[in-house]
Parts: sequence; structure tokens; C-alpha cells
Amino acid sequence: MTETYRPADRIAPIQPSVIRQFFDRGKGCINLGLGEPDFFTPRSIRDRAIEVLQTKKLPYTPNFGLWDLREKIAKQYSGATADNVLITAGSQEALFAVVLAFVNPGDEVLVSDPAFLAYPTLVQIASGVLSSYPMPAPRFAPDLKALQAKGSAKTRMLLVNTPSNPTGQILSRDQLQAMSELALKHQWLLVSDEIYQEVYFSQRPPSLWEISQEHIVISGFSKTYSMTGWRLGWIVGPEIALRRINLIHAYSVTCASTLSQRAALAAFTDEGDKEREDLRRQLEQRRDLMALLLQSQVGLPFVEPQGSFYFLLDISRFGNSMEVAERLLQAGVITIPGAAFGKNCEGYLRLSCSASEEDIEAGIAVIARTLRSE
Ligand SMILES: Cc1ncc(COP(=O)(O)O)c(C=O)c1O
Repeated sequence: MTETYRPADRIAPIQPSVIRQFFDRGKGCINLGLGEPDFFTPRSIRDRAIEVLQTKKLPYTPNFGLWDLREKIAKQYSGATADNVLITAGSQEALFAVVLAFVNPGDEVLVSDPAFLAYPTLVQIASGVLSSYPMPAPRFAPDLKALQAKGSAKTRMLLVNTPSNPTGQILSRDQLQAMSELALKHQWLLVSDEIYQEVYFSQRPPSLWEISQEHIVISGFSKTYSMTGWRLGWIVGPEIALRRINLIHAYSVTCASTLSQRAALAAFTDEGDKEREDLRRQLEQRRDLMALLLQSQVGLPFVEPQGSFYFLLDISRFGNSMEVAERLLQAGVITIPGAAFGKNCEGYLRLSCSASEEDIEAGIAVIARTLRSE
């Protein structure tokens, strides 16, 4: 029987993510590990979904997605047209399709340390080789010299994420420019995961697309519109690249959900704009609340997000991040150990301010109490 279910070599070394393991064991705990806002999806999008369900059939859309939606998304990226947009089943599927479309076995993919924990696994599924470059604490800015030094004849792709999960930091225009120049010089495919682009607190982050239109940008509706379960994302890039990515996309998911695509058109209205801004402001309040409580109750150094939902709390004086997260889990609060994101994040816990205000208050109180009693 075990032979029947022998895993393919490409998945044999893969374990469920550390985040998933903490969630599974943290039933009934206060959840500050969450990577999604706990808001309802904006009313205009929900209303549109109900109307579509009642009045329209829901056949497949073209593989590339609904033309109208592609046009609306293209308008967000100066110089892009609908031909530069491919709609995917979330940005996760977009990442998967991009990596599988371009990475051959043995090709190196440059990824920062720390980084979103799906990246190394995606590289592994494609039988690529992960090549990490440092984004050292406490600023978590990319070390561009080290990045350049890491490049080799086997480098195929540079994958960046701004604003970053887990650091909350934003790549500046200059940093993006430097990465773009490096990628163009060495013919690396540069991919920017910008799923948190609309989740910012002071200045809207620059997009790689504003620097150069020869790279690939990935984003989606999940975080901006509290639509994680609708599974809707997109890729913006040169047409030739999208045609190749579409070979993986079309043969794996055919198209993104037709209902989600039709409903998401409502995001591109005045009402949708207002609702998006409202969600952003509510998140800003949660970020301010978390910062205040960490200062007043916990009293440890922390890195505050410029974008995305994530604080990094420096718990290094209490032990390693796995142990401390485990102790906090036993005390009733889920946090994510920094080690899950790479060795440069060891000594930190990732806390998400996308939880409700009550959960933020209760969770920080547990953290303060537990660490004080150490
Ligand atoms: C950096 C980053 N990229 C991509 C994703 C995937 O998001 P989705 O597939 O919901 O668009 C996430 C989700 O947490 C993320 O944090």
C-alpha cells in the first residue's frame, strides 16, 4: 500500500508549512499568525456576485481571463494593455505557473532570506536550486552587493516581494531600479510579488512595472479586498512571457473562477475605491494599536510594517523563535517563528495586525504575560 502512494521525487522532501503546523495545533487559540484580513469582502463585490449568480450562467472564461477585467487591471499599470494581463487563481497560482514555466531542473532562483515560505518550495517543485541572498535584520533591506555576488551562470530568476511578507518592508524605487538593471544585464527573469501593494500605511509602494516593463509583476485581490477565499490574482508582463506562463495555467486550472472574476469587476468603481480605502484605513488603525500595545505592554524591540500586515517582534533574549512560539502557543496565542522564513529572521516572531482589534488586544496581553513570567 505504501508503495502505491510513494511520492514523486519532486514532492518527497516537502513538509506542510510551519505556519500550517502552528495553525493546526492552535485550535481555540487567539490567532496573530493569520496572513489574511478578517473583514467581509466589500459590499459592492458581494452584491455583484449575488446578481451574477442569479442572472448569468457561469461557463469557463478564456484561459487568460475576462477581457473586461484584464482591461481594468491593465489601467492600474501605466503603459500596460489587457494583452499584458493574465488572470490567475490567486497570486499563489501565479507564482507556481511562473516558476514552472521558466525554471529548468538545476536552474538557480535568487530569493531573499527571509522570504515568504512558499518560494523555496515552489523552486523545489520545479527541481530548481534555491540561492539565498541576505536581507539582514533589523532593517531587512536587500544586500545588493551580496545579491550580485550570488548570481552565477546558472541563475535563471530573481524573485522579490514588496511590501514583504514577513518583514513588512518596502523596496524603494532605487532598490528596484538596481535589481532591474542587474536582471537585464544578466538576462535573469525578474519577478516581483506585489500582493501587498495596496496594503500600505504612509506611502504607496512603487511597483516594479513603473521601473521597467520587461519584468513580471504578480498581484491579486486577496489582501487588498479581503478576498483570500475567492482565489483571484493576476500577472502583468510582456505578452511573450504570458503566453508561456499560460501553458502551465491553462493546463492546471483552465481559468480563474468565473464568478470571482465577474464579481471583482465591481472593485473598479467609485464605490469599490471607497471601500478599498476604508479597509486600508481600518488596517492602519490595527497596525497603530498593535504598535502601541507592543510598546506599552511587551517592551521589546520590534520592526513595524510599512506595508503588509506583519510586525517582527525581537524575542531573541528569550530563546530561539521556534521555542518561544511554542511556549506562546501553549499559553493560547498563535505567532509564527521567524526561523520559518529564513535564518536572518531567527530571533523574531511574526505577528499579524490583520486580526480583529479584540484579538490583537487579547493576544498581546498573553504575549506580555507569558514573556514577563520567564
Ligand atoms: C507574499 C505572498 N505572496 C503570495 C501570497 C498568496 O496569496 P493569494 O494566493 O491569496 O493571492 C501570499 C499569501 O499569504 C503572500 O504572503
